[in-house]
Amino acid sequence: MCGIVGYVGNKSVTPLLIEGLKRLEYRGYDSAGIAVVNDHGMRVSRSVGRVSVLESNVMPTDGGNGVEPFDGCLGIAHTRWATHGEPSEANAHPHTCQTRCGNTVAVVHNGIIENYATLRQYLTKKGYHFTSETDTEVLAVLIAELYEGDLESAVQTALREVRGAYAIAVVCNREPHTLVCARKGSPLLIGLADKSYVVASDASAIIEHTTQAITLDDYQVAKLCAGMEDKTTADGGPWSVDFKTTTIDNLPVTHEVRELEIGLEQIELGDYPHYMLKEIMEQPESIRNCLRGRIDQRENRVVLGGLGEVSRQLVHAKRFILTGQGTAYHAGLIGEYLIQDLAKTPAHSEYASEFRYRNPLIEENTAIIAISQSGETADTLAALHEAKDRGALALGVVNTAGSTISRETDAGVYLHVGPEIGVASTKAFVGQVVVLTLMTLYLGRRKFLSQEALQSHLAQLERLPQHIATVLEQSDHIRGCVERWVDRDNWLFLGRGYNYPVALEGALKLKEISYIHAEGMPAAEMKHGPIALIDDGMPVVFIATQGSQYDKVMSNIEEVKARGGTIIAVATQGDREIHRYADSVFEVPDVPEALQPLVTVIPLQLVAYHAAVLRGLDVDKPRNLAKSVTVE
Ligand code: M6R
Repeated sequence: MCGIVGYVGNKSVTPLLIEGLKRLEYRGYDSAGIAVVNDHGMRVSRSVGRVSVLESNVMPTDGGNGVEPFDGCLGIAHTRWATHGEPSEANAHPHTCQTRCGNTVAVVHNGIIENYATLRQYLTKKGYHFTSETDTEVLAVLIAELYEGDLESAVQTALREVRGAYAIAVVCNREPHTLVCARKGSPLLIGLADKSYVVASDASAIIEHTTQAITLDDYQVAKLCAGMEDKTTADGGPWSVDFKTTTIDNLPVTHEVRELEIGLEQIELGDYPHYMLKEIMEQPESIRNCLRGRIDQRENRVVLGGLGEVSRQLVHAKRFILTGQGTAYHAGLIGEYLIQDLAKTPAHSEYASEFRYRNPLIEENTAIIAISQSGETADTLAALHEAKDRGALALGVVNTAGSTISRETDAGVYLHVGPEIGVASTKAFVGQVVVLTLMTLYLGRRKFLSQEALQSHLAQLERLPQHIATVLEQSDHIRGCVERWVDRDNWLFLGRGYNYPVALEGALKLKEISYIHAEGMPAAEMKHGPIALIDDGMPVVFIATQGSQYDKVMSNIEEVKARGGTIIAVATQGDREIHRYADSVFEVPDVPEALQPLVTVIPLQLVAYHAAVLRGLDVDKPRNLAKSVTVE
């Protein structure tokens, strides 16, 4: 989704902002822009397409046809993912407004200003002309209209008029050493670096400069200033940096500085060609990190510090609602099966976007589990608010530390799988299912689960990193098989029980990065309509591991085979029978049914990855997609 970077300090800002935008590219965008301010004024550039296009405009290497590189120590930059208005130069950020008295204000914005039409009408009557179709330009004009020599105050006043969600960074030609930023409902961090501040919507654009950061809360405004203490000193003289945080009503706020929990190497590609492959291949390690310290073998218990304060409420919970979007929703579906099966407590999973708007029934002693890699997904956040307002205990299963969902829940468990850069969620899915399994065992043991059953599940979980590594060894084999059917435009993914959500996940992975149409469903459902689709050679992926429904799945395989479909099976190691029916087999270790999704999903991640690469697609930047969807 859209990305913000801002900088004020003692370094040349343009290369810093361009580098920051590149770090945010993975989030998905269609245009980019930059505004740089110095003592002589403000320069703005915007372009459609990749950040490299913008880079060549503002940092020309070929003499630039007479265009001077942008120069200054204060600036803001943005990658835009179109919401209001098509991807175009005019709609790209920063949006600017120049008033009659020569004040120029520039704004970059993530989120949506809901009352922008009313504000636009008001400002049009005042004589302002708009050059874009965006809601953000309205905010730039409003701030410029309210500017009376104090940018911070103009921003505060403007934001009091605004309804909707925003993370903004604002600069003004009259204050060449000041950057003002604010947030409501969309994340914004301020990195405290040496003699400078870096503002960004995502930690990945900050950690190159510092690991010390402040997370702004809703309705907070920060004023960041940097400059030479004594203007008469030569270049490199003493710099003063200063910042303060207030609310939009100008009440002072005490900010808390925290350590960002990610390392630069975690967001760099290393020797891998794509982040998605890196994140798939690193799963043994990331899942080891996710499990670390959470299984106490000697005491035979699950240790989840994040749930300590609510453990009694958990035991008394009569119902669990698991919610999320996309891959996180699929993890929630597995969580539903786990909680009902092992903790014997009613549970149901639901798309957050549906839950939020259907007047949901929240009975006494209900807990909602919001599942999200980013912790910023707008639909999931809205569902969480709805459930909290109706009295539910709010729990989070989140990867990004300090994210909005993690801060708005009563308790929760972090995934600890490291930052996920690839748009296709892989290691986060496995991390989510691991955490939901641990939560279920934690709860189950306090209810009906025997010591023996707990011990056996924990032992299997301990072996999970090794199991995943075994499956990953088949990557070349999987690529070879995918090569045979990669030109087919329609695929089916079928599974039963715990592997039904895995079928959904396999189909989502394939469609989002390879643009192959794929559907996932319960294997039995196929006979109720979709079987009509099966024609000669149509690839049908079955998750056909050993378990209570193995025979039923085998019958479904025969039904597809009889109609000429191609059978690709994910099967348990050592299953000879399956080879008689399947055109390709990907083997997974033999684990109890409740833990099977943790291994059966791995070959499907690789199927999607290899299909996209074989089709020549940009795996890490699939068309139209954003990593974190912060609009409903
Ligand atoms: O950050 P979240 O986990 O809340 O994101 C939810 C979905 O947007 C996300 O899982 C999406 O479906 C992925 N692109 C799937 O690979």
